[in-house]
Amino acid sequence: MGAPGPVGRSDAGTAGSVMAAVPASLPAVVARLRAAGCVFAEEEAELLAAAAGTPAELAALVQRRVAGLPLEQVLGWAAFCGLRIAVEAGVFVPRRRTGFLVEQAAAVAPPHPVVVDLCCGTGAVGAALAARLDGVELYAADVDPVAVRCARRNVPAGVGRVLEGDLDAPLPRSLLGRVDVLVANAPYVPTDAIATMPPEARDHEARVALDGGVDGLDVQRRVATAAPRWLTAGGSLLIETSERQAPGTAAAVTAAGLVARVARSAEVDGTVVIGTRPGR
Ligand SMILES: C[S@@+](CC[C@H](N)C(=O)[O-])C[C@H]1O[C@@H](n2cnc3c(N)ncnc32)[C@H](O)[C@@H]1O
Repeated sequence: MGAPGPVGRSDAGTAGSVMAAVPASLPAVVARLRAAGCVFAEEEAELLAAAAGTPAELAALVQRRVAGLPLEQVLGWAAFCGLRIAVEAGVFVPRRRTGFLVEQAAAVAPPHPVVVDLCCGTGAVGAALAARLDGVELYAADVDPVAVRCARRNVPAGVGRVLEGDLDAPLPRSLLGRVDVLVANAPYVPTDAIATMPPEARDHEARVALDGGVDGLDVQRRVATAAPRWLTAGGSLLIETSERQAPGTAAAVTAAGLVARVARSAEVDGTVVIGTRPGR
């Protein structure tokens, strides 16, 4: 399935009906999280305790977690590529595997690159590239206003611009033919597969962040079609996909006139299709 996979660092399950007294101590929090199906209960308990200023705050955080919210949405942040990324309720939680997209993009970037992060969500990918590469000119865009607000916290104005709108529509025309690296972790879950995703994802991440249409590739195809006119000669489009969907993603990239290859990390279960615009 093309589902983005387990949320964040945790495989934690949910138990919306679990109710208990206010946890009095860390062991009580661990027990309550474990009873709710959280696999990494000890680690989560420590993170929640560190985030809470008072026992009442801790109880409220634990309550939200056992009600099924992703840990990262409860904490308000996710660890990603060595950064702490702000994550608001309902927004897609950046996945560990997407670090592979960042690595691949950094590997093809020239010095002082112009970088575009389409379907940016929290802006995690663009923020990680800006942290890694010197002199980046970064543009990130998303259609979801909550994601855009979140991305503006993670990609401050001095680092890049975050724009709101459908795919590449909000990008400034001055970027046409100037983009060195265009990254997209667009939704790629087939519509029918959303029901089989972990409840943390299917109930607490926006549908627009997950649903890639019948075969999961609808948004990717649109990204591939849009990309060539933005890319400079020799510039690259990088799209995260799944191992199973990679041939379809690569076909879309090839159909757009780019030279496609597939990069794969078994370690993080990351798959990226890289399409290069010929000509350099
Ligand atoms: C799978 S999430 C990935 C978010 C982020 N790139 C990441 O890796 O954490 C997909 C994102 O695409 C956005 N999106 C979906 N359709 C879009 C469209 N037509 N135009 C712009 N953004 C879109 C969603 O709002 C969501 O934030």
